[in-house]
Amino acid sequence: MCFNSKDSSMSDDISQRITALRRELGSSLAILGHHYQSDDVIQHVDFQGDSLELARRIPGLDARYIVFCGVSFMAETAALLAKPEQTVLIPDSKAHCCMAGTAPDRRVAAVLKRITAAGRKVIPLAYVNSSVGVKALCGRYGGSVCTSANAAIMLKWAMEQGDCVLFLPDKNLGMNTADLLGIPNQDQAVLNVREESAWNEDILARRLLFWPGVCAIHFRLKPEDVLLVLEDKPRPLVFVHPECDPAVVALADVSGSTSGIIRAVREAPSGATIYIGTEDNLVLRLARLHQDKHIYPLGAGYCSAMLKITEQKLLDTLENPDRHESVRVDPEVAPDARKALETMLAVMEGTK
Ligand code: 13P
Ligand code: SF4
Repeated sequence: MCFNSKDSSMSDDISQRITALRRELGSSLAILGHHYQSDDVIQHVDFQGDSLELARRIPGLDARYIVFCGVSFMAETAALLAKPEQTVLIPDSKAHCCMAGTAPDRRVAAVLKRITAAGRKVIPLAYVNSSVGVKALCGRYGGSVCTSANAAIMLKWAMEQGDCVLFLPDKNLGMNTADLLGIPNQDQAVLNVREESAWNEDILARRLLFWPGVCAIHFRLKPEDVLLVLEDKPRPLVFVHPECDPAVVALADVSGSTSGIIRAVREAPSGATIYIGTEDNLVLRLARLHQDKHIYPLGAGYCSAMLKITEQKLLDTLENPDRHESVRVDPEVAPDARKALETMLAVMEGTK
């Protein structure tokens, strides 16, 4: 972010006040931040990570206040996994991931009912980018959740639990993961969730059904964008997030979670030119951190939900954590949603 001198002194002031409050609150405070947060915010976090790493941190935290700098489904996941005496806060409760919004829980419940009525033992597997209500349905139907870092492990697990998996809401992550596992195309189908009458027997007999959601940021990237940069000489490297279209992933050298992309950049040879297809806060940070490499965004842009978390809002949260509205999950659905998340953590524990 670029500041003029007045903005810059204001920002320094905010920064110093946050630093002082962190010192004052000491071990009663833990600040977590997703890789897509701006540098202004990320400089203040105790733990930075992808959505899996951040979720795994929660059960081990003893802080009274957990401040989550990320989008609301991540803060809700933290609230589900935190101890009852801990308070989870998010600097802006309106930071909603648009992909999570593509799977309203009532619609998901109706779809699961319809698949069950067709005689299938359906196991729902929700990407963590989903509402608590959807996670609760996963818990209720014996399913679980996954992140982009463990989707292959969790999809393999889910396919062993029933005779059909409903993967939601991100069809791209679902299809890219199915490709990794070598699941044949004829076993897969993207559901038209608005028109159940469009489902014939053939669709309902598939082993893997996808909800038709996408991330508006990663959806912007098209195969032509990759083909264009691949014309450069010498040929550059292309790293993308698995929320991208399968045709984009097929052209890339690496497809990985945000932490997977960070690792791939670290391991790339000095002097390499790398185009990265994911959110720009992360891409531009990597470019600054690895000046021995030439790193460029492929053009996904910024996630407006992540941008809602600002340094000023973080300061407001820390100035009065007891007055700031805490992240609450509906007690009706919390136990089943927690079960789905704990199943994921247990499956991951078993793979160590
Ligand atoms: P990661 O799980 O890779 O951190 O990604 C989360 C996300 O929202 C990507 O758009
Ligand atoms: Fe959601 Fe896409 Fe933003 Fe990730 S980048 S939080 S999937 S809108």
